[in-house]
Amino acid sequence: MKVLRLAKSSDSAKLVEATLAEPEPGPGQVLVRVSATAITPTEPGWFVTSHDASGAPREGAILSHEFSGTVAALGSSVHDFTVGQAVFGMNDWFADGALAEYCLTGHTFLAPAPLRLAPTQAATVPISALTAWQGLFQHGHLHPGDRVLVHGGAGAVGLFAIQIAHLHGAHVIATASPEDFPLLRGLGAKELIDYHSQRFEEVIQGPVDIVFDTVGGDTLLRSFAMVKHDRFVVTIATTSESSGDPRVKNSFFIVKPNPRQLMEIATLIDTGKLRTFVDAVVPFADAADAFNGKVTGGTGHGKVVVTVNPPTL
Ligand SMILES: NC(=O)c1ccc[n+]([C@@H]2O[C@H](COP(=O)([O-])OP(=O)(O)OC[C@H]3O[C@@H](n4cnc5c(N)ncnc54)[C@H](OP(=O)(O)O)[C@@H]3O)[C@@H](O)[C@H]2O)c1
Repeated sequence: MKVLRLAKSSDSAKLVEATLAEPEPGPGQVLVRVSATAITPTEPGWFVTSHDASGAPREGAILSHEFSGTVAALGSSVHDFTVGQAVFGMNDWFADGALAEYCLTGHTFLAPAPLRLAPTQAATVPISALTAWQGLFQHGHLHPGDRVLVHGGAGAVGLFAIQIAHLHGAHVIATASPEDFPLLRGLGAKELIDYHSQRFEEVIQGPVDIVFDTVGGDTLLRSFAMVKHDRFVVTIATTSESSGDPRVKNSFFIVKPNPRQLMEIATLIDTGKLRTFVDAVVPFADAADAFNGKVTGGTGHGKVVVTVNPPTL
């Protein structure tokens, strides 16, 4: 199978094409024929990209761990999928990712793909929507009526966080650039703050129940004073991972695969309640451009998607 892997000793995401043997699914695994994969630009710099699970150096990683595709083969004891079924999901950060014609994953990392989405749209959902879901419900303990402040509301994760919080009956406040305000209002944000010209702590009236931070740094540090003393600040910003500040450490989490949540998300999509956004679609050969910020002319919202295999009929 054709793959793109990270070139050795490269600072930027230099990807090189290689041909590898098609993997075989082991017990509990599913082999997915990848239709499309969405890019997370910060991935080349992650610990899991340059290290294996034991902490030893890792070279030549195959990036991109969320995808849409069809089931190509099932390992033993997998009974919840059938060969040829359309699926979407993610795979283990330490495993080879989806910039490849085939990708191996655990059967609990997947769900049937939403029916109303094209594969290029479905590929944008797993990481961003699960991150928003887990941040709001598992880490933020969201209740209807909560006041939720989303930093980076127009980002790939923020767009889901606004929608999911709104659907759950929250009063959503978001920081973003003013050109994105109409879109975010349409998704359910009730108060919008221009992060370029306003300090959110001077605009928001009273404490909030949850801060969902996707920005990190000073934005996150200024947020701790904004939340009720018995409620939660949640951060996903990559810069938060290595912080020595215990408040930041305690607020940070990394998204985990969860098939039940993916199925609930797919239902919200198929009933028209939840939207996903595609910034741009690029061919396999141009995947490095997506990591290096060289894809132009996109919609400006959601992720850049790489097409891998054309969908099977
Ligand atoms: N921990 C996890 O499990 C996990 C999962 C997914 C993503 N992440 C990380 O989360 C971060 C966000 O991901 P993403 O995919 O949503 O990114 P993204 O699509 O690039 O969006 C970033 C957004 O942040 C906005 N922004 C930048 N500075 C801001 C500020 N000071 N105040 C408010 N908004 C600001 C940008 O708005 P403008 O374009 O208008 O400037 C943009 O809309 C990244 O660091 C990513 O690696 C972590």
